[in-house]
Amino acid sequence: MAELQEVQITEEKPLLPGQTPEAAKEAELAARILLDQGQTHSVETPYGSVTFTVYGTPKPKRPAILTYHDVGLNYKSCFQPLFQFEDMQEIIQNFVRVHVDAPGMEEGAPVFPLGYQYPSLDQLADMIPCVLQYLNFSTIIGVGVGAGAYILARYALNHPDTVEGLVLINIDPNAKGWMDWAAHKLTGLTSSIPEMILGHLFSQEELSGNSELIQKYRNIITHAPNLDNIELYWNSYNNRRDLNFERGGDITLRCPVMLVVGDQAPHEDAVGDQLWGTKNLIPASCLLQVECNSKLDPTQTSFLKMADSGGQPQLTQPGKLTEAFKYFLQGMGYMASSCMTRLSRSRTASLTSAASVDGNRSRSRTLSQSSESGTLSSGPPGHTMEVSC
Ligand code: BEZ
Repeated sequence: MAELQEVQITEEKPLLPGQTPEAAKEAELAARILLDQGQTHSVETPYGSVTFTVYGTPKPKRPAILTYHDVGLNYKSCFQPLFQFEDMQEIIQNFVRVHVDAPGMEEGAPVFPLGYQYPSLDQLADMIPCVLQYLNFSTIIGVGVGAGAYILARYALNHPDTVEGLVLINIDPNAKGWMDWAAHKLTGLTSSIPEMILGHLFSQEELSGNSELIQKYRNIITHAPNLDNIELYWNSYNNRRDLNFERGGDITLRCPVMLVVGDQAPHEDAVGDQLWGTKNLIPASCLLQVECNSKLDPTQTSFLKMADSGGQPQLTQPGKLTEAFKYFLQGMGYMASSCMTRLSRSRTASLTSAASVDGNRSRSRTLSQSSESGTLSSGPPGHTMEVSC
């Protein structure tokens, strides 16, 4: 019905006097492009105002893709390289996107007054319903990185009926233990806030490699005019409580989840590494994902360990992440194979029976791996899989 209405509106739109159908089409396209450039809105919530930017137009019967960025970043610095990646276009044209900026992180945000009580991560999650209400969106597919992944996971625990799927990149579901606190305090004695945040975002290897990307993000964070706000978000992140996932228990994610971790992801938890005896073997961040993975519903969870990728795979490996995201959506029945590029179609030929068009969506899990070729391919549904690509 909603789809019919959309077609009628388009076809019955009267031409302006003297306007040719071509000119009308061009005007419509221009308006759409304008929308696609992103419209920024703010809404009041019980915990203060929150800003978000909407790209694309809502699609009937489809969830919105809602993103939440990590500490030290905003929606643009966190997600632009991924969402503007060429192969991503064929995916996102099918979805409206809502990119939330944590309070005080939006471009041009004024610095909060001294003594301002910044929301906890749980309160940041509690702001999301106000965004969805404002936009009149009923369901989302969440994409979050680091602190943003935690916030979206918390939101999904509190509002399971509104979350159709979650992509959680480098999530740490645990509160800091006292050892972590001790390490954090020690680091704080010798490092500045930007250095600590860079150490959270990128591995030591990435930071010492000092690539152009690292130089760019070091520059963004070191010279951020809202650095005081960033410190408040950082403090909230460090004060997070356990998500307390329990497999088979009440506290678990009920939607399809793709857990993503870079194989070179940073591990702030150096003390933990030593305790676990894993130094130089497996980064603590990988173990965290494995632990997180083990506590989630195996029929709903895919675990993607991304090769040659550090703390921000959406920045360093947008191609791999795009492909994985495509499979994830396909597993949820949202990307019919006819929408796929020829390359992806050939890779997923054996997958397509699990995917279908809207209205006949399959819940089976289809993401898996071929680690040697570095590509993704079909695997048995209903299993949690480790993926290297
Ligand atoms: C998007 O199309 O969703 C997008 C564009 C620019 C930055 C971030 C996201």
